[in-house]
Amino acid sequence: MIGEGINRLDGPLKVTGRAVYSYERQDAGKPLYGYILGASIGKGRITSIDTQAAEAAPGVRLVWTHKNAPEQAPFKNKPDMFGRAHPELTSDIIDYYGKPVAFVVADSYEEARAAAGMIEMAYDVQPGAYDLAEHADKGEWQETLTIGPKGETRFGDIDKAMAEGPVTIEADYTTPYHFSHPIELPACLADWKDGHLTVYVTAQMVAQFRGGLAATLKLDKSQITVDSAFVGGGFGSKLFLHAETVLACLATRAIGKPVKVLLTRRQIFTLVGHRPAIINRIRLAATPDGRLTAIGHDANMQSFGPEPWSEPVATVARSLYAAPNRLTRHAHTSLDIKTAEAVRAPGELPGLLVFESALDELGEKLGIDPVELRIRNDTDIDPELNLPMNGRRLADCLREGAKRFGWDNRPTVPASRREGRWLIGYGVASCMRAHFQGPTEVKIRIEPEGRVIVYSDMTDIGTGTYTILAQVAAAGLGVPVGQVKVELARTEFPLSQGSGGSWGAANTSVATDRACQTLREKIAAAAGTGYNDLFAEVRRHFPQGLEASGKTLSSTDDPNFSKFSQNTYGAAFAEVAVDGDTGEMRLRRMLGVFAAGRIINAKTARSQLIGGMIWGISAALHEAASVDPRHGSWVNGDLAEYLIPVHADIPAIDAVMLDDYDEHANHLGMKGIGELGACGTGGAVANAVYNATGVRVRDFPITLAKLLPGLPV
Ligand code: MOS
Repeated sequence: MIGEGINRLDGPLKVTGRAVYSYERQDAGKPLYGYILGASIGKGRITSIDTQAAEAAPGVRLVWTHKNAPEQAPFKNKPDMFGRAHPELTSDIIDYYGKPVAFVVADSYEEARAAAGMIEMAYDVQPGAYDLAEHADKGEWQETLTIGPKGETRFGDIDKAMAEGPVTIEADYTTPYHFSHPIELPACLADWKDGHLTVYVTAQMVAQFRGGLAATLKLDKSQITVDSAFVGGGFGSKLFLHAETVLACLATRAIGKPVKVLLTRRQIFTLVGHRPAIINRIRLAATPDGRLTAIGHDANMQSFGPEPWSEPVATVARSLYAAPNRLTRHAHTSLDIKTAEAVRAPGELPGLLVFESALDELGEKLGIDPVELRIRNDTDIDPELNLPMNGRRLADCLREGAKRFGWDNRPTVPASRREGRWLIGYGVASCMRAHFQGPTEVKIRIEPEGRVIVYSDMTDIGTGTYTILAQVAAAGLGVPVGQVKVELARTEFPLSQGSGGSWGAANTSVATDRACQTLREKIAAAAGTGYNDLFAEVRRHFPQGLEASGKTLSSTDDPNFSKFSQNTYGAAFAEVAVDGDTGEMRLRRMLGVFAAGRIINAKTARSQLIGGMIWGISAALHEAASVDPRHGSWVNGDLAEYLIPVHADIPAIDAVMLDDYDEHANHLGMKGIGELGACGTGGAVANAVYNATGVRVRDFPITLAKLLPGLPV
């Protein structure tokens, strides 16, 4: 049952439209609709506002600006990113483009949006700093990163090692702004009744949303219920409170009727966080036989002064390969661009894209096969934590992948293989992702009528949580999956850490299995002997039904996390064809081989990994959001212009999971896989483009324009 690729249990609900998402919820009766108006400047002050026409427009119930919005708790940049207040419409200061300046509630969405368009705003526009490269020298090294790790780590003497060489690489690689665009837009239906706020919202973590809302609205947490039963994708964009949720909640409390607010696709660019643009300096030194003697990764990223966010870009370089001399550090360059946030595989996605490109350059200089170079620098001990690495199977992934992919057939000389107009190249990269764990509780109830119900405030953001928890509970109790019902994503259920950082599946599966253990022990004790029919024993001894909870420890309390460097591993292989005349790049095939512990559901796991690999491809070849350096606005702020791969860009692609069980992760031997597929895979594509053309593009994404000048004639 565990491991079996059963279909999603919520699949039929989704394909028949019975899975109801936040904006479609009808639970609160007829709602009003809100629309957010954003600033049309990047930096300055509001000098005058005229809302008269909007207030008089048909159907309008309320128009708020900073002059009349309800009082909220002030924003404090305290360490708890989830529990802090997120106030809106608090002042006349515009410090990023698109910042909410007004909010209209009306009887229909169309009326609210039309009225918002009638608001006259005048601004005093000030010059802003919008370009990272231009302001990079103002970057400030960070002692601690937003999510906790040290900003800088240093071992040995990297400058000396770089001077001694003998073979070195030192280059700058840049990665652009990225956005998460889940299919389901950010949306909230808020309903204030009798002093209680019920919030139907698309969120990755419900308890954390409740904490932020309680702080903002100055309510007690017990006055708020959050429900995110179905979520249409998150990728980091639904980890934090945003304007639509805060304003919907404020409005329902003010008006006493349910209020719905939906962001448009374009508003994701201005009201939801992005991955920051990053300038990476990579330094590598090696002996002629390819042993790394120095590893350096400096990351200088866009930040927003009042609300900084560190993408942990260089942290993956700390654990990836052995080398005695090491330096990794992160700098924030504060620009007048709104705060960055978590975007799928924060840190590893850009970090490995550039690091694995640099390692490819080193292999080229050394004349060593890139698979062999990676295996030669493999390590069982985390080079910086000095701890054994759990289930470190990087070399297994590289070897298995090379065999399956036919790596032997790789052109050893760049730009040496042609098929008509096409130049053919192969590339490889290592994949690695930190494995996290957080305090989680799951409650299970066995009903005598023959049903098991699993309760957790964990979310299923399209990943398969409903299905895998049913599998774990069914296996843990020895009942068919069809007799298990999983209830998720409501704040009245036991606390989890939700879906984020690839931790959700392991956190909640471990707690589910522990609850099953306790239930089995209780039933066995009551039965006095072994038993065959679980439900018969429950009917006999527990006619009211039987409940138990299971817990997963916080990583700080779990010795596995102090004794081992906790990660997942993989290797990615890509073959590309590049048109020798036009530079058109076509991915031909791609393979990822992963070691991520025990797999609970082969089908949902494969979907996660393949989805991640597509993000990797996208980072190498497609995605970049561009800021207008004059106005601070997003030049390509919609999905017509923000390039992402379509089906035609993704040909034969496969993800293989090594048969694995990581006894040092937890008693189920499982780890997170959500983001692993996006970690490193882009490097394989970039390295394949180099192998095909002999052109190294260090500014991502690789585009025709960057490739063309260097193409062989
Ligand atoms: Mo993660 S950035 O919550 O996909």
